[in-house]
Amino acid sequence: MRKIGLIGMGNVGATIAYTLVTKGLADELVMIDKNEKKVVAEQLDLQDSLGRLDSNTTIKIQDYSELKDADILIITAGKVAAMGSGADGRMGELSFNKMVVADMAPQIKASGFNGIIISIMNPCDCMTQYLQEQLDYPRNKIFGTGTFLDTARMQKVVGQSFGVSANNVSGYALGEHGASQFTAWSTVQVNGVPIRTLQHSHNVDLDKFEEAIRLGGVMVFEGKGYTNFAVATCAVKLAMAVFSDAKLACPVSAYSDAYKVYIGQPAIIGKNGIESLTQIALTADEEQKMKASADIILEKVETLRH
Ligand code: LAC
Repeated sequence: MRKIGLIGMGNVGATIAYTLVTKGLADELVMIDKNEKKVVAEQLDLQDSLGRLDSNTTIKIQDYSELKDADILIITAGKVAAMGSGADGRMGELSFNKMVVADMAPQIKASGFNGIIISIMNPCDCMTQYLQEQLDYPRNKIFGTGTFLDTARMQKVVGQSFGVSANNVSGYALGEHGASQFTAWSTVQVNGVPIRTLQHSHNVDLDKFEEAIRLGGVMVFEGKGYTNFAVATCAVKLAMAVFSDAKLACPVSAYSDAYKVYIGQPAIIGKNGIESLTQIALTADEEQKMKASADIILEKVETLRH
């Protein structure tokens, strides 16, 4: 039986739940939120949809003990950080979300959950690391959506510019899911052709692309006060990669022994969570950006630890 826990039933959590139920991707859902009224309403609303679906999902709520036999736990709890342009708004709720983790971690521990944790709460990288430390959880079994989302935004921006499907754009946004993220253009290909060989013929301005990618989430946030669809799609894809042991190659927020932080880097996702990390060749400039991003994340992690 495919069982998924969801802690946090705000816009992102509700979108993930809706996707899992309407696509019939989980046999059982456990939805938990501080706002009892909200999570009851989400359960009722989702149950009302079952009569129009070809699959069934058992939906339980508010019971941490139900996590014991869950395969995957997706965490979206916490306040939505004001992702204002310029300074990294995602830092905005660090202290509040630290309290959320401090409240949540003992309950997850007590539940006996020992599956794979996918963390979304912002600032993603340092909160994922803080949760891993509070749970003393195996590092391969907890990772963050991280720059999997930023990479999707890169694929959109490049795909639209070249008139190709986003799925025909490969490569990575790496580093912090935040202001210091960067696109490793040396890894980006369009229909299998390195973008750097297309720069002149297509009059491509990579700096403009980078700006559009970085502001992707900000524009959505400024329009509706949160983001949910893209990050929920990322979380569901990662959860399915775990369920199907897909060995999916993608960038996620995973622990780096080199930098001692969780950071957006290429990994292989399967039934064991992070099956392995992919060592890719980066240019000297990209390596420098990665190090700079890691330093920023480490500074935030230190803030959380004290
Ligand atoms: C975003 C949030 C999830 O970038 O940080 O949409």
